[in-house]
Amino acid sequence: MPPMRVNISPMKSGAGQLIEIYLDSSARIICPPDLIPSPGQYILAHASASYSPLAVPVFFSDSAPNGFRSAPLNESTWMPGTQLNLRGPLGHGFSISTGARKVALIAFDDSPARLRGLISIALKQGAEVVLVSNSAMDDVPEAVEVQPLQAMMEIYQWADYAAFDVARENLNQLREMLGNGKQAKAPREAQVLIRAPMPCGALAECGICALTNRHEWKMICKDGPVFEMGELKI
Ligand code: FES
Repeated sequence: MPPMRVNISPMKSGAGQLIEIYLDSSARIICPPDLIPSPGQYILAHASASYSPLAVPVFFSDSAPNGFRSAPLNESTWMPGTQLNLRGPLGHGFSISTGARKVALIAFDDSPARLRGLISIALKQGAEVVLVSNSAMDDVPEAVEVQPLQAMMEIYQWADYAAFDVARENLNQLREMLGNGKQAKAPREAQVLIRAPMPCGALAECGICALTNRHEWKMICKDGPVFEMGELKI
């Protein structure tokens, strides 16, 4: 069955609150259910009492009571109890096809937290899951095999679905490691979450999240942040 692309949901806004910060700088955030992003999507969050003009993209990592657990945050001023103004969910998320039986989750250059939400989806449909990362992550289910980045190509060629997480500045390096599309065997489907600053979430068309994809421009905040591998000509 073909994968279902997660469409951009009608944009909503509302209030949330940061409840707890974990050791890896991820946080438990409570918010209305319709603001919870799906894996790969994000919400823009702005602390109510903050003087900072910029909102912060917050990615989904895991389910949590009355809200969700975020991926690690770069916001050192947010504390438990911080009230947040939220807008979202925004962007295209991941979508594992129901037929996928060998799932590779590859965190190329950062924490695998943004890929964590795919683990339960993949296990629920009976897939084997291999997490490839050089960063540790807590609470990885026993059923998930964890491999270092060194094993990336082997796992990539084994998989029938692969999800990557990579910073915009490292995309070319990933391209090169994957052989610029000339690798002998690639998964039937692969998707890539590209991280970049996304201060406006497409609202002001600031262009800060722009991605040059060979000869085309894409806006990571609205065309992504998850792209089909084919779209990126990797
Ligand atoms: S974040 Fe402003 S256009 Fe993408």
